[in-house]
Amino acid sequence: MNNSASPKPSTVPVLTQDELKTLVGQAALQYVVPGEIVGVGTGSTVNKFIDALATIKDQIKGAVSSSVASTERLRALGIPVFDCNEVQGLSVYIDGADEIDAQGNMVKGGGAALTREKIVAAQSARFVCIADESKLVEKLGKFPLPVEVVPMATRRIIGQFADMGAKATVRLKDGQPLVTDNGQHIIDVTGLQIADPLAFEAQVSQWPGVVTVGVFAFQRAQVCLLGTASGVKTLNF
Ligand code: A5P
Repeated sequence: MNNSASPKPSTVPVLTQDELKTLVGQAALQYVVPGEIVGVGTGSTVNKFIDALATIKDQIKGAVSSSVASTERLRALGIPVFDCNEVQGLSVYIDGADEIDAQGNMVKGGGAALTREKIVAAQSARFVCIADESKLVEKLGKFPLPVEVVPMATRRIIGQFADMGAKATVRLKDGQPLVTDNGQHIIDVTGLQIADPLAFEAQVSQWPGVVTVGVFAFQRAQVCLLGTASGVKTLNF
């Protein structure tokens, strides 16, 4: 009789998307410069970062925030929040993305905070993107592209995207157009293939009534901490 036990099936735990977000949120702490003010983005992944940041809050001066939601979370955890205009420059900005490509170009704005995110990113020397691996794409354009617009220009801008062969719709909240922290509206654009993110961002940013286009190529990431099944992978661009 053969008594040797048959090999047990491997039981490598599969991390949930939420656990991957927690991992990258914690990993981002290594980019925070002690004694300085850190730029903080918006979204569910950044919320994990904010929670991690609270554990070292005594080692930093505070944060510049990219949304009302992040400001409230930071303050609730006892992290001082500075106005962008009070701060000359930031060494690092930590934020999530809806999509990121292999060059560090991103689509952002799923949480409607893209305008302030771009402003704080522009003020920062280094953009560290934190994301789970579902966000890594070959070419930007799978996720609907958010564009913040002045409401009176919405119809014309939707028409301009239609001329490109894309479809844009106004984002709603409770049946009404969502109003951003800046008092503007968001349109979400599908059917785009963004082959040249820099040229696309430059082009759409010039349309009258566009406040911010959700392509971040001028403010692309220099680092991406990607949550994968085998741990946090660091991509440097
Ligand atoms: C907020 O407006 C966005 O740009 C977010 O950074 C982006 O949507 C990623 O959000 P999650 O971390 O919630 O996926």
